[in-house]
Amino acid sequence: MKSSAHAPDWAALRADFPILDQTVHGRPLIYLDNGATTQKPRAVIAALSRYYERDNANVHRAIHELSSRATTAYEAARARVARFINAPSAEEIIFTRGTTESLNLVAYVFTPRLHRGDAILLTEMEHHSNLVPWQLLAQRTGAKLLFVPVTGDEGLLDLSGLDDLLGRNVKLFAFTHVSNTLGTINPVAELCARARRHGVISVVDAAQSAGHLLLDVQALGCDFLAFSGHKMAGPTGIGVLYGRHALLESLDPFQGGGEMISSVQFEQSAWNKVPHKFEAGTPDIAGAVGLHAAMDYLDEIGRAAIARHDEELARDACKRLREIPGIRLLGPPRERGAIVSFALPGIHAHDVVTFADQEGVALRGGHHCTQPLLRKLGVPATTRASFYLYNTPAEVVRLAEVISEAAKFFGARD
Ligand SMILES: Cc1ncc(COP(=O)(O)O)c(C=O)c1O
Repeated sequence: MKSSAHAPDWAALRADFPILDQTVHGRPLIYLDNGATTQKPRAVIAALSRYYERDNANVHRAIHELSSRATTAYEAARARVARFINAPSAEEIIFTRGTTESLNLVAYVFTPRLHRGDAILLTEMEHHSNLVPWQLLAQRTGAKLLFVPVTGDEGLLDLSGLDDLLGRNVKLFAFTHVSNTLGTINPVAELCARARRHGVISVVDAAQSAGHLLLDVQALGCDFLAFSGHKMAGPTGIGVLYGRHALLESLDPFQGGGEMISSVQFEQSAWNKVPHKFEAGTPDIAGAVGLHAAMDYLDEIGRAAIARHDEELARDACKRLREIPGIRLLGPPRERGAIVSFALPGIHAHDVVTFADQEGVALRGGHHCTQPLLRKLGVPATTRASFYLYNTPAEVVRLAEVISEAAKFFGARD
């Protein structure tokens, strides 16, 4: 990597990602599906190889040298996550498979605390990962689901009725930081503060923000925060749940098995201390090591610089795409994350994505795991371009050209 925290050399950074140096269907690859997963820099790939080539063993269970190294590396990754999100303590960091498992964990462990008449507040822009686990919790407990409405195509939360909603016996308020479909950046600190005033526990889905924006759980004031390694230059299979220490202490375990106990008898067991109480079985040790390398990599560039870079690309993409006749752009006109979603009238998003793929441009088309949101907006599917630190202004120009060509190609056939 050739960069400094102040002036990243974006072209040099791009060379850190070997996968980008290839052609697809005879065209240079332009990877714009970063909302689904990001590519991995050499530093992360090397950390994974080094771990498997030199240190691999199971954690916490043996006294031999390799096990001690694996345990040290795994716990160092936990401490690094705590620094990455400014958590007061590494004990508040639980490793999971990803955002989905983190959110399911919270929804599961709250089962004994919810009853008929209670409510769970969500927003209309949630990914299925931050909707279905709460539906299951509601089914288990008789609690009902309430939703903060989305305003329309500009994709903002309508917060005018928030205090009224929070006052309706709400126990948990779960919402996304950045919408994976609209690119909206929600005012997390304000939402958490308002939840706290009503004695409501806040759960933040940071899947689309952790790799792009500075995250400070103390400044945000959240009770829980979830994210995935693979959306922030890290490996698949590893994710994080941050939880406030006192809350984690007070909750029962998620899954049972090795590691999460302090003692076991035939009839009953006692739990390990947090965070191990929530990490049953062998964790993804290599994943944690790779995530550690990814966090180092991102912080060496500087997350504020990454956020500015991504935002500029998204803004430029919006400006260029808006010139295509008939295009419907979703999401806020200003202050959006690294995501641009749009629909071309009469043309299915899958056709657009297939057309773009032939030009080497990787996009995503569909409902983006937000079916209720798209139904509300009256669009069956959108095409989504999502950016990351290795994308370039030239790629945005090419994106707009390809979408314009697709509009003409399919429009002409209608
Ligand atoms: C906003 C949001 N939440 C949750 C998820 C689920 O993440 P994962 O599949 O890594 O668990 C995603 C993935 O696209 C997402 O965009």
